[in-house]
Amino acid sequence: MDFKNEIVTLLSKVINDLSVEEINDLIEVPSNPQMGDFAFPCFKLAKVFRKAPNMIASDIVEAIEESNMFSEIKQVGAYVNFYVNKQKFIENVLSTGQLSEKLSDGNGKTIVLDYSSPNIAKPFHIGHLRTTIIGNSLYNIYEHLGYKCVGVNHLGDWGTQFGKLIVAYKKWGSKEEIEKNGINELIKIYVKFHDEAEKDSELDDEARAWFTKMENGNEEALDLWQWFKDISLKEFKKVYNMLDIEFDSYAGESFYNDKMEDVINELEDKDLIKISEGAKIVLLEEENMPPCLITKKDGSTLYATRDITAAIYRKNTYDFEKCIYVTAFDQNLHFAQWFKVIEKMGYDWSDKLIHVPYGLVSMESGKLSSRKGKVIYLDDLLNESIEKTKKIIEEKNPNLENKDKIAKDVGIGAILFNDLYNNRIKDVVFSWDKVLNFDGETGPYVQYTHARASSVLRKANYDMNESKDIDYSLLTDDLAFAVVKTLERFSNVVRDSANKLEPSFISRYVVDLAQDFNRFYHNCPILVDDVKLRDARLKLVYNVKVIIKESLNLLGIKAPEQM
Ligand code: ARG
Repeated sequence: MDFKNEIVTLLSKVINDLSVEEINDLIEVPSNPQMGDFAFPCFKLAKVFRKAPNMIASDIVEAIEESNMFSEIKQVGAYVNFYVNKQKFIENVLSTGQLSEKLSDGNGKTIVLDYSSPNIAKPFHIGHLRTTIIGNSLYNIYEHLGYKCVGVNHLGDWGTQFGKLIVAYKKWGSKEEIEKNGINELIKIYVKFHDEAEKDSELDDEARAWFTKMENGNEEALDLWQWFKDISLKEFKKVYNMLDIEFDSYAGESFYNDKMEDVINELEDKDLIKISEGAKIVLLEEENMPPCLITKKDGSTLYATRDITAAIYRKNTYDFEKCIYVTAFDQNLHFAQWFKVIEKMGYDWSDKLIHVPYGLVSMESGKLSSRKGKVIYLDDLLNESIEKTKKIIEEKNPNLENKDKIAKDVGIGAILFNDLYNNRIKDVVFSWDKVLNFDGETGPYVQYTHARASSVLRKANYDMNESKDIDYSLLTDDLAFAVVKTLERFSNVVRDSANKLEPSFISRYVVDLAQDFNRFYHNCPILVDDVKLRDARLKLVYNVKVIIKESLNLLGIKAPEQM
């Protein structure tokens, strides 16, 4: 039984000028429950019928069939408002046990997600956090919708910077130091290279020569490159482990080395290449964009060349429904350019390439310390959050079992939630007070609500497998009904968040659910003597627990049973 579907069916019998999909998309959930549980606005129909929208609304109410799923259908202003039959609605939402189950929208189709994708021998810092967790969350969201997801870490593991690193290592590097200090040592000598190259431009020539050696398969060059890569990956994986994130593929930029030539030839065959000062470019004048660079005058390939090649490879390998790229918005032009090149090549799937840009992270200054210097390293940040959470737990609940594990789940969850709470394109200002506030619209608040629901269920020895006759008519409180209405929205929130590529829809939703639940919890005692009432309320609590947990899960955040 689906109430929204029933509304669509009822409306489509009386409105011939809109398709079922159009009607479905127009249906709203009024924020004020007095205005009904669902509402259908008639503004759009005003043009078609050449009539005032409120007249149309009242005509629809006249014509519409009765349905026992609704207690009332009435016109208010330009809207047709639907009031659900509460008891049926509540029973329908709570009894199925399917609220959190995977959907079948995706029908097994494949979504490729390209995210995180840090650069070798560069710090894994707070800026990379966003692509990592937005991408991971979108992955979970699409899986929930029944798509098959392929998470690709398109490592920045090729390019002239490796020539520089090799020169730097040969001049100032020490194997022992690098083995001891890992990526930090690599960054140190890389920075030194830049300082020195300003004084001595010959260094740049040497670096170019080493990169050419790499491109030509020189063993010494490739061994060093592989070593730098291993060291960097070890560092990245520390963070992925903390976040409990895995990738299906680590095919980075270097993976496409032997695949680019074919693509360049294809571009030439399709007459898309122009030569400009020895470089091969694709002009994008008509699109008002600067040209897309395919090879430099020395023949070396570029970031865009590898992206074009990777897209074609992925289409052939995974036959994706969508290929999604999560990066900061400063790469907007890059993606717009090479997406256009794919289109010009005649690939009709160019519209399945989707760039998902996000805003910057800035620090509330001075509040964040880092042992390693100016850059905020991700593992430092996560560890600091865990430490701070541990202190809070020591104050609030010193006897809690498993304190370390819970501090980890809450400390990391807090950072993730903060990052995923606003529209992704907005900049994030990082402030510890906000991130770790247990009462605000935060991760800890939502996790705490989940732990609270779990604790009620534990006290009641609630067994979800025990089949009981629940009398849903006992859930008469408005506060209970508000919770049920929010629960009912879950699947559609997941759908909307996928359509708009916005994990923030989920984080906003789960805060709503937690707030609704806490209002209910404070006003409607659950473990009452009346067994029937108690069972009905416990059923509600159980559903809330499941959906909070699943929402957090979609965001990549754990839901501890106790806090
Ligand atoms: N390595 C790039 C960076 O750190 C991000 C790569 C994004 N993915 C892609 N296919 N271009 O900025």
